[in-house]
Amino acid sequence: MNREKIGIIGSGLIGRSWSMLFAAADFDVEMYDIDEKQLQGAMAEVRTQLAELERLGLLRGKLSAEQQFSNIRTTSEFEDCVRGAFYVQECVPENIELKNAVHTRADAVMSDTCILASSTSALLPSRLAADIKHKNRFIVAHPTNPPFYAPLVELVPSPWTDSDVVPSTKALMEKIGQVPVVLKKEIEGFVLNRIQYSIMREGWGLIKDGIVDVDGIDKVMSAGLGRRYAFMGPFETAHLNADGMKNYADRYATMIEGVMSTLKSNDRFGGPVLEQIRTELEARIPLCDLQERRQWRDRRLAALTQLNQRIDAEDAK
Ligand code: NAI
Repeated sequence: MNREKIGIIGSGLIGRSWSMLFAAADFDVEMYDIDEKQLQGAMAEVRTQLAELERLGLLRGKLSAEQQFSNIRTTSEFEDCVRGAFYVQECVPENIELKNAVHTRADAVMSDTCILASSTSALLPSRLAADIKHKNRFIVAHPTNPPFYAPLVELVPSPWTDSDVVPSTKALMEKIGQVPVVLKKEIEGFVLNRIQYSIMREGWGLIKDGIVDVDGIDKVMSAGLGRRYAFMGPFETAHLNADGMKNYADRYATMIEGVMSTLKSNDRFGGPVLEQIRTELEARIPLCDLQERRQWRDRRLAALTQLNQRIDAEDAK
């Protein structure tokens, strides 16, 4: 085989998604997990998901579902997974000691040019690979869940990441159809979670102060802001909502600064407010219906992807 090899460490929710994305771009994917049963489960689910994507017309790349599936193999030997790979994506649970141990093990086998990327949701890259020999080849590549339908990947270098690692990883992400955003330096929560938590903090405060209920906050996002955010961000929204960003500021800066000065401050993520949010959510979506509701969500995510692809194709004509 003459294709470039990708190593995936950990075959849970995120590891199996990465394996599908790389396989669709015809990479030679080797996936390792400490738990053999997880690996078998991952392969069974990847096969089912690829078949479903093929049925929906949403497969990426030019290969059939079966061809993509055949690009993925598994191993129960850690070193086999890393050896010969030009890019390794670590996808083990969010625990710094565990991740550090995995990175140290990969360090001993990876080549000097290999890139070692972590899927971590929040751990700083400078804390994840400070002591390994190849710390200059380390980067965070944080996907969004579910990676197939929400293609954003945050790329976060540490202060000692080699200058070629960011552009190479960015190019790789674009090659597999993901949308990379590069952070110029590391920060807690990266960007996606900082924005997500700032929305949650404001919603939390508004619920706490009796201004709106949980259903109201969810509707403001799903029927209001989220309709636009599905394909454009807040700054482009502002640019279009007036005659450009400058005109938007001329018109609304005083009002925006006034509201911003009253935004809710930090609160403990627990106590009576949590109880109120939990109770309202469980009345609307009982815990026994979560799986059904996830399927509801995934059907909409698939349909949105189809819609975007169709309109992109029409715009390209
Ligand atoms: P998961 O719990 O579904 O899967 C973790 C896998 O790692 C399991 O299959 C487990 O057997 C395996 N594992 C444990 N120790 C191992 C070791 N020493 N060597 C190899 N494999 C080992 O977790 P999930 O959700 O896939 O998360 C993985 C990473 O991705 C975490 O850092 C998480 O924060 C991040 N992430 C998760 C997202 C999510 O929504 N689930 C979204 C974006 C990033």
